[in-house]
Amino acid sequence: MFEKMTKEEAAKAIGEHVREYYRTFMARKPYKDGDRISYAGRVFDEEEMTLLADSALEFWLTSGRYAEQFEKKLADYLGLPFCSLVNSGSSANLIAFMALTSPLLGERAVRRGDEVITVAAGFPTTVTPILQYGAIPVFLDVTIPQYNIDVSLLEKALSPKTKAVMIAHTMGNPFDVKAVKEFCDTRKLWLVEDNCDALGAAYTINGEEKLTGAIGDIGTSSFYPAHHITMGEGGAVYTRNPLLHKLIRSFRDWGRDCVCPSGVDNFCGRRYDKRYGELPAGYDHKFVYSHFGYNVKATDMQAAIGCAQMDKLPAFVEKRRHNWKRLYEGLKDTREKLILPEAEPHSNPSWFGFLITCKEGVSKNKLARYIEGENIQTRMLFAGNLVRQPCFDEARKTGEGYRVAGALDATDRIMRDAFWLGVYPGMTDAMIDRMIEAVRTGLKQAETAIRLTPPPPQIGRTGLSGRLPVERAA
Ligand SMILES: Cc1ncc(COP(=O)(O)O)c(C=O)c1O
Repeated sequence: MFEKMTKEEAAKAIGEHVREYYRTFMARKPYKDGDRISYAGRVFDEEEMTLLADSALEFWLTSGRYAEQFEKKLADYLGLPFCSLVNSGSSANLIAFMALTSPLLGERAVRRGDEVITVAAGFPTTVTPILQYGAIPVFLDVTIPQYNIDVSLLEKALSPKTKAVMIAHTMGNPFDVKAVKEFCDTRKLWLVEDNCDALGAAYTINGEEKLTGAIGDIGTSSFYPAHHITMGEGGAVYTRNPLLHKLIRSFRDWGRDCVCPSGVDNFCGRRYDKRYGELPAGYDHKFVYSHFGYNVKATDMQAAIGCAQMDKLPAFVEKRRHNWKRLYEGLKDTREKLILPEAEPHSNPSWFGFLITCKEGVSKNKLARYIEGENIQTRMLFAGNLVRQPCFDEARKTGEGYRVAGALDATDRIMRDAFWLGVYPGMTDAMIDRMIEAVRTGLKQAETAIRLTPPPPQIGRTGLSGRLPVERAA
């Protein structure tokens, strides 16, 4: 088949076959009433598949030219100089946090026992790196219906050991960036924005609209299929600070000192010229380790898919906004029974989902079960109250390793009464309308008698105990 072709011509011919394959077998089938409605999913076309095939034919495998291209595209989109591709959003959070522990940051380095302000209503791996390193997460409550950190509590959480704030823009709704940033700036605290659920969200600060993830010191993304763009598994860490970028790269790439890209030797031209630590003079710089790092790089195949997805990102964000708005319009007259989500003032969210909290007298479990029975996927706000998860059993018993500043009442309420529906760009108006119908019908069945059930007491190092919220019979 390829005998009379050059390598480039053969690759092009394969690309044409891949396009044809996509059109014949992979193109999205039109939605029919009653079809399963997922909360999220990959939205792609022949562009993703041909770039993936191209990188497979090149067989570079590790991060290469597509990774470089992707990093540039994402950095340009965010208006940042530096972006590092990694293999997941969790890895992105790990690298972002670990970069802050580098001795090269001097006084500002996060040390074991230092405190990092965060929330318990969210995804666990925003918090995991803090705990695993031996720093202390300090949990604050959130506000409903924004589902973000309650900034009125920030001062209360502060201690002489506070070094950073690390929080997500929940469900694509920016947190109060102005308040958090001012709090961090005036106290010289690092701000890590977990932007995994919010790529494309904007916030206007001092008259200037900025994209989330590009406002704090470091931002992180996830490219798992549910997210705003996907490459299967993937993530990114971005910053405008050259030193933080150097540290991010070091922790991502085995902890090494050298910045040579994959497949390049002696990028700096001084490979054998310096002395490091107690190593002999001229020790090969490629094998000098300035940190205890990881290897969480992504492959070029993942990056190739990401490159095609980046071109679709602005349209994806708009479609998410459209879907969210349609859901809101279709449900707004249920507000007597349901709390609908609200955008943070001064923000233009890039919605990840549509989070609903059931009011008194409505059983979340009954409602979610009804909706799922209608073949429509629902999701929880991830861990609910992370401190109540089994992974915290040990720490709860000892009361050590974390701190709760104030009560987590809203967090507990979200754990009990909230769930969300998808708004991903693969949804059509007909799908959204069916979701609206399901919520409205389900609501009639979910109204229930009220009983009082005490929740397990909440024990933190502050000795804080849980209140007695109203729990509904499911
Ligand atoms: C806010 C947030 N942070 C981090 C992650 C982790 O991303 P990944 O699944 O790519 O590890 C997620 C996952 O959905 C998330 O929602």
